[in-house]
Amino acid sequence: MRPTLALALLPLAHAIDIVSSNDDGWAEVNIRSLYSALGSSGHSVVVSAPAENQSGTGSSDETPTDRTEACEFDSCPANSGPYGHNETDPRLNWVNSYPVTSIKYGIDTVAPQFFDGAPDLAVTGPNVGSNLGLAVFLSGTVGAATYAAGTAGIPAIAFSGYSGSATAWNAEVPAYSTVYAELAARLTDRLIASGTPYLPENVWLNVNFPEVDETCASADDFSFVLTRIFTALPLITADDVETCGDSRLPTESSVIYFTDGCYVSVSVGSADDKTDADAAAQGVVLEKLGDLLTCLP
Ligand SMILES: *[C@@H]1O[C@H](CO)[C@@H](O)[C@H](O)[C@H]1NC(C)=O
Ligand SMILES: *[C@@H]1O[C@H](CO)[C@@H](O)[C@H](O)[C@H]1NC(C)=O
Repeated sequence: MRPTLALALLPLAHAIDIVSSNDDGWAEVNIRSLYSALGSSGHSVVVSAPAENQSGTGSSDETPTDRTEACEFDSCPANSGPYGHNETDPRLNWVNSYPVTSIKYGIDTVAPQFFDGAPDLAVTGPNVGSNLGLAVFLSGTVGAATYAAGTAGIPAIAFSGYSGSATAWNAEVPAYSTVYAELAARLTDRLIASGTPYLPENVWLNVNFPEVDETCASADDFSFVLTRIFTALPLITADDVETCGDSRLPTESSVIYFTDGCYVSVSVGSADDKTDADAAAQGVVLEKLGDLLTCLP
């Protein structure tokens, strides 16, 4: 018997098509944890990420070359060409090049095998280690997100986490990796629930998770705060969106490094130059995330 229309559609009401990448490599546990979390939320996800750790490669982009060695953590055999995928799950792809090249391959080549149109959203990371302030210029996780938001016109979110170190996908999943993936899925689902367009044109979000420890131990312990990437220059930098009784947002570094409590920083970036977007774009995100966002004490 065919399911009724309502039954068929209900569970998928907010399910969308997502392309995922990172710079720590396709076999790093964080990208796999996020793949699971977004899948649990009902989304259709494809991963297209570097075969190797490409941390710090920014917006580099080069045609993939044949691999001679095994992929990171022995996740693909030696001499397996310029691209490949997991043997049993073809949604998990590696690309023998940079993060930007990888997400581009995901958007242009992998996504059409699984999605009807272009991906609705791009997510990158969670990066192993924070990407705060000046680090956004070096980060491949940010490079891939800004490529998606800028050149490809796909709303994008870069996630990074303070805790942990490079861990293979098939090791025991560390607690922080599960917490970061849950938090990333929560923010993603909230943005999706706000409707399209998910973000203003050419805008990406830089999201940083603080340390996971005994106090900040599970996703429910955390709150999200709207921040800016760079320190504002007095008299020069235009006002931010007004919120929490102030027209200047805290910097993401001050929230992650110097604020007690469990606060996730959410900065609104421009894909043109990876700097802060203007107050109007911040305002759109403020409205979309609604009561997911809180004020610092
Ligand atoms: C490929 O996917 C299978 C099934 O999900 C998993 O057991 C295996 O560890 C994966 N291998 C790699 C390299 O991703
Ligand atoms: C990648 O390299 C960076 C910098 O050398 C390091 O901090 C990070 O842990 C590495 N990640 C992986 C997955 O090896």
